[in-house]
Amino acid sequence: MFPKALTIALLLGIGSLTGCGSSDDGSTATTTAPLGPGDFKADYKTSSQFFTNMKAPVKGTSPHGTTRIWYSSNVKELVAKDSFTAPEGTVVIKEFDMLGDGTKKGIAVMIKKAKGYDAANGDWYYDMRDMAGGVMADPPAGKIAMCIGCHAGYKSTDFLAGTKLR
Ligand code: HEC
Repeated sequence: MFPKALTIALLLGIGSLTGCGSSDDGSTATTTAPLGPGDFKADYKTSSQFFTNMKAPVKGTSPHGTTRIWYSSNVKELVAKDSFTAPEGTVVIKEFDMLGDGTKKGIAVMIKKAKGYDAANGDWYYDMRDMAGGVMADPPAGKIAMCIGCHAGYKSTDFLAGTKLR
């Protein structure tokens, strides 16, 4: 466990990196971003392989309730855009508190697989985990139809629905 102050310092450190680079020049950025880590990493909160734009959990618009999202650092510039395709290996980790009262907590994960894994649906793998990072049996991990059904409504941002949340 990290002391709270250190965790905050790390988050601030990560946050201060966001200012670099130029603003969106409208170029299509589909192939330039580096590959992602490719798998869930238990140290996502402190690892430089991940970042979050959310200083605290927020109440989203989904059934996930109150959430906080970490994206793998390879898509840091991409997710700021209105339209992009995430590279293979991109990992998204979302902590959720379904009722916002701490009773139904968990982690929802999306991982971008190699081309052809699920071509019709952006080649994303989905799973749900307990707070310790263990994969839940229900729903069975993989191409989860229930998840895809809703995330398919966000095609311009490559099935990612939370990139604008702060
Ligand atoms: C009814 C719609 C809906 C369903 C079903 C759904 N999601 Fe989401 N999901 C969202 C929305 C909307 C967001 C954006 C954040 C928010 O508002 O909570 C999101 C965000 C996420 C994120 C953060 C990445 C991002 O930017 O989209 C992950 C990871 C995720 N969902 C995983 C899952 C998994 C795994 C399942 C299935 C077990 C699932 N979702 C089912 C609507 C849905």
